Amino acid sequence: MCGIFAVIGSREVSSILGDGLRKLEYRGYDSAGIATIENLNNGQFGKLNIRKSEGKLINLTNLIKKKPPKGHVGIGHTRWATHGKPSEINAHPHLDFSGQIAVVQNGIIENHRTLSEKLQLQGIKFTSETDTEIIPHLISLEIEKSLDCGLSPNGQTLLTAVQKVLSILEGTYAIAVIWSQAPDTLLVARRQAPLVLGFGEGEFFCASDSPALVGFTRTFLPLKDNEVALLTPLGIELYDDFGNRQHRAPSFLKGTELFADKRNFRHFMLKEIYEQPETAQLWIDRFLPMDLPKDNSVALPISKSMLGKIEQIQILACGTSRHASMVGAYLLEQFAGIPTKVYFASEFRYSPPPLSPNTLTIGVSQSGETADTLAALRMEKERRDLTKDSDFSFHQLGITNRIDSSLSRELDNIIDIGSGIEIGVAATKTFLGQMLSFYGLTLLFASHTQKRSHQEISKLSDDLRLIPKQLTDLIKRHDSLSKEIAHLFVDTKDVIFLGRGINYPIALEGALKLKEISYIHAQGYPAGELKHGPIALLDQHVPVVSIAVPGLVYEKVLSNSQEAKARDARLIGIAPHGSESEIFDELFSIPKVSEWVSPLLTVIPLQLFSYHIAAHKGLDVDQPRNLAKSVTVE
Ligand code: AGP
Repeated sequence: MCGIFAVIGSREVSSILGDGLRKLEYRGYDSAGIATIENLNNGQFGKLNIRKSEGKLINLTNLIKKKPPKGHVGIGHTRWATHGKPSEINAHPHLDFSGQIAVVQNGIIENHRTLSEKLQLQGIKFTSETDTEIIPHLISLEIEKSLDCGLSPNGQTLLTAVQKVLSILEGTYAIAVIWSQAPDTLLVARRQAPLVLGFGEGEFFCASDSPALVGFTRTFLPLKDNEVALLTPLGIELYDDFGNRQHRAPSFLKGTELFADKRNFRHFMLKEIYEQPETAQLWIDRFLPMDLPKDNSVALPISKSMLGKIEQIQILACGTSRHASMVGAYLLEQFAGIPTKVYFASEFRYSPPPLSPNTLTIGVSQSGETADTLAALRMEKERRDLTKDSDFSFHQLGITNRIDSSLSRELDNIIDIGSGIEIGVAATKTFLGQMLSFYGLTLLFASHTQKRSHQEISKLSDDLRLIPKQLTDLIKRHDSLSKEIAHLFVDTKDVIFLGRGINYPIALEGALKLKEISYIHAQGYPAGELKHGPIALLDQHVPVVSIAVPGLVYEKVLSNSQEAKARDARLIGIAPHGSESEIFDELFSIPKVSEWVSPLLTVIPLQLFSYHIAAHKGLDVDQPRNLAKSVTVE
């Protein structure tokens, strides 16, 4: 949520800020702004230049092109509104009462109300509705005190003031600050919101996410929690919470595909749907190659010593990642015999279950930056560390697509799903990558617990190896079919998705995808629940999408679908072609595969169905309203 990009060096920065923000637009796109300091009087002091605009970043970049603000130092921001509606006034940067200090922030300042009341009592007038605006005012007051004591207006004065202000802020934040009286200084800091520093040639950067640095530099250093950095054109000084100078070597950003392009696809989402066979093939090549040593069912980076200690698993995740986790929990329990529970990370933090012994906690997050998931994991670690009983130790595993994320830094064991950068806000290929990681864990635990025979484990592995080819066929067929029928659903207001067993989470995911990008209300249910209430909604205006895969609950799902059809609902089936599939008004046929691997295929038509309805409605598929790719506020 919200992207910060900042730079200091010896060349004009306004277009650099625009380029950096473009790579962060996925974090928020309701308004954007920049501030630069134009040097006056030989660099002794300067003048703040501000450009802001409501709406997509393109509005700001056009403004910058028309009236480029001068300056060799600048801060920029793309906003996802938390406090105050999207508007030019609420867009960052925010200024102090003297108009000399500019601040951009990502996060939430929880005690902003108390602080702003105090400031208003001192006569300070607020111009925006944001929680951020208190920060420049507070910094300004601290600077005034220092100047009154005879200190000079320079970077150190700004540093001291920022450190004092941070000590009274509650909540989570990443900030970047400039002050017109210290035109060769850029101050940045973070607490539980991401921020990385970039080391260029004669210039230094700061961004909410490392791929935003690509094109400027690949040498980067993530800021740790509660650290403050002072950047000048000559270098970076790093300080911890207590003001102690820190020294750490930067790292080199690997990977070529850090910033994707759309190729010939109309939207990133469609391109990413099409990339799924590749995601699956890469995953299989890495973790399930044919030449695995005999006693290894899968090549996951998990030590046997950790496996031996685990009796149960709890998974913390949000949104689509939670749906992938639910497929995982089904597999881990039903195939591998390990009791597994999935929690909404946002709920777990405030109502955790009683501590259970010998438990593996898995955090699942595509971005690796989701505040709810990170906070729940931290809380779980803390309460387990407190017991000091080794049975309750914190055994941890992260599943993410971002190896350079906070999740990867905070957890010792990570499965990198390796799906490649995903730009569309609606997760597609990373969902597949997350599910595949759970298949890997299932193979690992199943052979460890010996719940399954060697033949059953080999059969599952062989079925997984067929998935990339099956995905290729499916995507091609279902892309044209969903395009053909999309127009039938353009005026639809409600859709019900049904699934059972391992495909129940796919019904939830289908409903989430439709809601996110087409703004059609959709709800996923376990098919057996239909008759316990939701059936009251059904008539000819409420289509029902039913996932019916031969296996344990096939007949049951078909009967539940019949019940919907009897209420005049238009029935869309995700099922193999055959006499049973004749009940469906529209059929997205899938190959006859084992029920165990079916979610990897049944999700495809649901992604394409949502995509084409949204595209047909002319909606902004890649950046749907009110959403952001990385949800860094709780
Ligand atoms: C997915 O389409 C959504 N945009 C959203 O539900 C997402 O899955 C959720 O916010 C969790 O994100 P994460 O995987 O980055 O933690």
